[in-house]
Amino acid sequence: MLRALTGDRGGPSQGELRLRRRVAAVDELLFAEIAERRADPRLDRRDDVLSVLLLARDEDGEGMADAEIRDELMTLLLAGHETTATGPAWAFERLLRHPGVRRVLEAELAEGSTEYLDAVAREALRLRPVVPNVGRVLAEPWPVGGHRLPAGTIVAPSIWLTHRRAGVYPAPRSFRPDRFLGHPPDTYAWLPFGGGSRRCLGASFALMEMRGVIRTVLERVNLEPVGRSEKVARRAITLVPSRGARVVRRRRPSAEGGRRGVDREEGTPQSRPRVPAR
Ligand code: HEM
Repeated sequence: MLRALTGDRGGPSQGELRLRRRVAAVDELLFAEIAERRADPRLDRRDDVLSVLLLARDEDGEGMADAEIRDELMTLLLAGHETTATGPAWAFERLLRHPGVRRVLEAELAEGSTEYLDAVAREALRLRPVVPNVGRVLAEPWPVGGHRLPAGTIVAPSIWLTHRRAGVYPAPRSFRPDRFLGHPPDTYAWLPFGGGSRRCLGASFALMEMRGVIRTVLERVNLEPVGRSEKVARRAITLVPSRGARVVRRRRPSAEGGRRGVDREEGTPQSRPRVPAR
């Protein structure tokens, strides 16, 4: 992996050495955590992800080695943490500014239906894809848009632009979850998780988490958006709400006999992006 990131220049660059040191520091923390959890006498009664991984057995009854567990944890931390936090953050940023959509969603959830919830999650990922594009290196020459690209060319299909094609999504800038009701998203036009054989490994898990978070939050607290719509900001490889999807929690009328007031300001679902909105 390191070689792929840094290129083959005959010797490790300063950047590669720095990366190696950082990976080693993270490894040290993860291996210590794994060792501690393996030694936990209550391990078989725990249900957190690390414990579940340690308890997993293959068809021969073998568990995973420390290095395999470390790889699983690294995947969850790097590929499945910030992305999964940003998806629901955008969903709330959009949902709270569309009271009509929110009312429909709350009514559907109250009736026990999750079809609209699924559409809300998919529409949030369409309008605000967390990752703007994916990258591929052509293994053989390939025609793209009338050009014949040679093998070795890096192509980067744009998730952002695909999701804004008016021919596929009428009123593409509008937040309209009902566009996904009754039919699943098009495999080649809805790409928040990329596509093909390298499509996101955690796509189903991420959607499940997103539905669960949206539903639980709506059921437990009454949120209102703070200020105007948030701009799209870049944070490393992800696109995040520029102010961290800020919301205010208000008391529920039912719990307060109809009185409404600001309870307290919620923390941001994720820390502020370092790069300002564009
Ligand atoms: C909303 C949440 C998420 C989004 C938007 C997202 C998005 C993406 C995208 C765009 C890719 C590149 C796919 C491609 O090149 O075609 C990717 C790859 C990947 N994702 Fe996710 N992801 C999310 C959550 C997760 C979670 C929860 C996990 C793990 C539990 C995960 C694990 C991975 C892995 C392992 C890859 C690399 C797959 C490969 O190269 O074969 N992702 N993700």
